[in-house]
Amino acid sequence: MDETNQTDKSNMIEVLESIPEQIAEAVKLAKDVKVTEPIKRIMVAGMGGSAVSGDILKAYLKDKIDVRVNRNYFLPELVGKETLLFILSYSGNTEETISAYRTAQRKNMNMVVITTGGKLEELSKISKIPCIIIPKGFQPRAALAYLFFPMLTVLYNSHFIDNPVEDIKKTIKTLKNPKFKERAQDLAEKLVEKIPLIYTSERMGVVAYRWKTQFNENAKVHAFCHVFPELDHNELVGYGNIKAGYHVIIIKDDDDYVKVKKRIDITKRLISEAGINVTEMVIKGECFLTKLFSAIYLGDLTSYYLALKYGTDPTPVEVIEELKKGL
Ligand code: PA5
Repeated sequence: MDETNQTDKSNMIEVLESIPEQIAEAVKLAKDVKVTEPIKRIMVAGMGGSAVSGDILKAYLKDKIDVRVNRNYFLPELVGKETLLFILSYSGNTEETISAYRTAQRKNMNMVVITTGGKLEELSKISKIPCIIIPKGFQPRAALAYLFFPMLTVLYNSHFIDNPVEDIKKTIKTLKNPKFKERAQDLAEKLVEKIPLIYTSERMGVVAYRWKTQFNENAKVHAFCHVFPELDHNELVGYGNIKAGYHVIIIKDDDDYVKVKKRIDITKRLISEAGINVTEMVIKGECFLTKLFSAIYLGDLTSYYLALKYGTDPTPVEVIEELKKGL
């Protein structure tokens, strides 16, 4: 067992600090897994903290491969053997994901399961479906590296994407920078007693969504997100009446489309003039993968520090467990 597996996974900050090591380990877990049949598209089936890895994959691969994310009991009619399906469930016991697995099996689809065990490990063993077993003990949302990087490795092993190793190395190096914590602490300070509204360009939309869900699950607060340019056509108008309690976070990337950057500047001014505080977070990185993970890491840390400010344990999500028991 390596060092990553020995850390106490109920301590969220230790888990966050070990993300660079988790990425390296996650790549290794998938090193022998590949798909040999030709495919036209990728689908990722999962829920919550597991499914978001599918959104990151979709963002990272942009238009290079058609990637869809399925958060439901059923799979769309259109998918069949030409779709590679990643079944992602940290616990291996999520009912929507198991149901999607069973549907895919009936359709005889190409599948790769990524899980810690549970029913999905059992089912995939019986049917000899490739199954990548990731370490137990994390919260699903905190196991992001273990859920995402094996997919990337399988896609490379199967010759569906270019070698991502340089991007991965840059990402690991960048995430070791201690400055992330300082930025996150400063931002968390501003968010106490506020409802975070997180905005990004559409190409970084997964980042805004991850920030939202991490505020929900770590800090146990409501948070909402939207993307440019669409938000300028509706959400912006909502600053007309109720204004209490919001704090807008705009996550900017220098590579955003020039017109989107102009929109961001004007939108920021208009929201400030409406009396709402806006904080801009500029994300830098040598490649898009690094930017995505840097921005996500900053959000994970900010939600962690915000939880501490509320005196809340960021790790457990008891209400989700309670709901699952009732199903
Ligand atoms: O963050 C969480 O705990 C949830 O969003 C879970 O990820 C979600 O309920 C699905 O569970 P699992 O990831 O085990 O399939």
